[in-house]
Formats: sequence, structure tokens, C-alpha cells
Amino acid sequence: MKNIYSNIHSFNKKVIKKTVLFLKQGNIIGLPTETVYGLAGNAYSKKAVKKIFKLKKRPNRNPLIIHYDKIKKANQDVILNKKFFKLYKNFCPGPLTFVLKKNKFSKIASSATANLNTVAIRFPNNRVIRAVLKQLPFPLAMPSANISSTLSPVNAFDVFDDFKKKIKIIINDGSSKIGIESTVVDLTGKPKILRPGIISSSDIRNCLKVNLSRKKSKLKSPGLLKKHYSPGIPVIIGKKPKKLEHAYIVFGKKFKNLSNYFNLSKKADLKEAAANLYKTMRKIKKKGFKKIFVAKIPNLGPGIAINDRLKRASR
Ligand code: TXA
Ligand code: MG
Repeated sequence: MKNIYSNIHSFNKKVIKKTVLFLKQGNIIGLPTETVYGLAGNAYSKKAVKKIFKLKKRPNRNPLIIHYDKIKKANQDVILNKKFFKLYKNFCPGPLTFVLKKNKFSKIASSATANLNTVAIRFPNNRVIRAVLKQLPFPLAMPSANISSTLSPVNAFDVFDDFKKKIKIIINDGSSKIGIESTVVDLTGKPKILRPGIISSSDIRNCLKVNLSRKKSKLKSPGLLKKHYSPGIPVIIGKKPKKLEHAYIVFGKKFKNLSNYFNLSKKADLKEAAANLYKTMRKIKKKGFKKIFVAKIPNLGPGIAINDRLKRASR
């Protein structure tokens, strides 16, 4: 029988070599990170960046995150500052993205940053993406590997679901450990969270020892503008379903084990819940449920990021 997943490969030296070659030739590859899977291309190539936007059906005005393995390489494209170094020391490599000013020598394709004078950079912490970045002479522009406005992928098969054979290689490294996208922090002025994530605003405040800005910024992350992270069926927050054909996402130990109940974390662990969020929504959709109801999830730490994604999915 023909293997329909023939473009999904597991991690080994040979695959990394091929991936590096394909990326150098301007191709787009599906790669794992600790947050979600990404759609990677040469950030210095206008052509590669164009392919990413086209594959994702992403609006041009929504900039991409540029991924590096080392500070030294990032230093060639952005102006690093003290706050960056403090946060880097505490959290990187890891699920934190920094918005910084672009420097005048930067080779990043202007389309990758939607012609802004700022760049979002990240140092992902996953053995595959790090092995690839290490061997490349350029950084990777890498949005989540899903069609724009839908759920981010947390394993190689989720990537396949959206792009099939349109990408030559998808490297499989199991389920993404964190399961939701990185925290985005703007460091171009008073630090400000643009997208909440596992690293919370209090983690950042405690590290920098400054209060964060709560002002609404002119530049918004995509989900701030419209519907995002959508599973493709209605999501209703804070209510219980009345029918069995409606799924109920719950959290903690007080819930029953009914066939339409999906518990994000029986032990009420918000990190575990975040890791299960997209996985669970995809499962519910695949099982044919018509609607998703969601129980209340504590709005603290990773719970803030979970509620942010749920709220946008419910629009
Ligand atoms: O965890 C992640 O960050 C994943 C993995 C693959 O690294 N990537 C990811 O990329 O979530 P994407 O494209 O799905 O989301 C990028 C976010 C968007 O909200 C975008 O608006 C914001 O980063 N962004 C990118 N460049 C920006 C900039 N210069 N200023 C402000 N926001 C920016
Ligand atoms: Mg995304």
C-alpha cells in the first residue's frame, strides 16, 4: 500500500542534511518546536517568504517570527538591548518571542516583517529545529504550520492535515511539549505582552523588575484583530452543553467521565491543560461534534494564555 504520509520523516542525521539542503534551495519545510509545529523558510529570501504566506493563506500585513539558534546570529539583524539579555538568560532557548528594532544591516526580507522597522525573534528549544538552525547560514521565518486563523499544529500529522504533500518534508518529533504558541513581548519601548503564553506576564515582570505596559498598541498580533485559533465549529465559553452531540471541555477533578466530556487536566495543572488544548479541540472536531462548550478555566499563569486562545476561537 502507498504510504500517504511519505513526506513525514523521523529525526535523524540524514533527514537534517536533506532539510538543510532543501531550505538552502528556497523550499518550505514543516518543523517541530517546543511550542507548536512551524512552517519554515529562509528569512533572507523574498521568494521563500512569499511561499510561506501563500501556503498559509496569511494576510501580508501579518509579520512572521524569525528563528535563531544563537544570539550572535540575531545580533546581525536586530538591535539587542539590556532587557532582552535579561530575559534571554532566564528563558531561552524557550517559548518566548522578542519584538526588537531591526538594524540597518539586517538581511531579513522586508515582506517577512510586513515592512515594519521591528522584528519578532525567537530561540526555539527543540532538538530538531536547533540541529537545522545550527547548520544554516540564515535564520528561519517560521509561523505556525496551519492555514491562517485555524488551530496551530502540535504534531507532524496535524501539519499534514493542512498541507498534505504541498511541503516536501515534515519532520516528526512527537507532540509539542508546550502545545500553545510562544509568549510575544515587545521590547521596543516599555515592555508589553502582545500575545500571552506559558511564560506569563508576572514571570517577565519578576525577571525585569519593571511593570509592563497595558496600553493598547497600534501594531496588533493577528488574533487581536479577528477570529483566530478556530477549530472550525462554534466554541461557547462558560456554559454547559445540553446535548450529547455537543462536546464539553472541562478542567479539574470535579467533572464526570462522560463520552462528550474532555478534561484538559484532571489534576488541575494549567501547564498540562495548555499542552492538551489544541490536541483536544482537534480530537473533538474529528469525532464529529457540532459545537464545543468550555467550562471556566482559572485565569492565572498559563490559564491566561488558554483563555486568550479560547476567547479568540469563540468569536
Ligand atoms: O511559538 C511560536 O511562536 C510559533 C513557533 C512555530 O515558533 N510561531 C508562531 O508564529 O506562533 P505565528 O506566525 O503563528 O505568530 C507570530 C505572532 C503573530 O501574532 C504576529 O503578529 C507577531 O508574532 N509578530 C511577528 N512579528 C511582529 C512584529 N514585528 N511586531 C509585533 N508582532 C509581531
Ligand atoms: Mg499562528
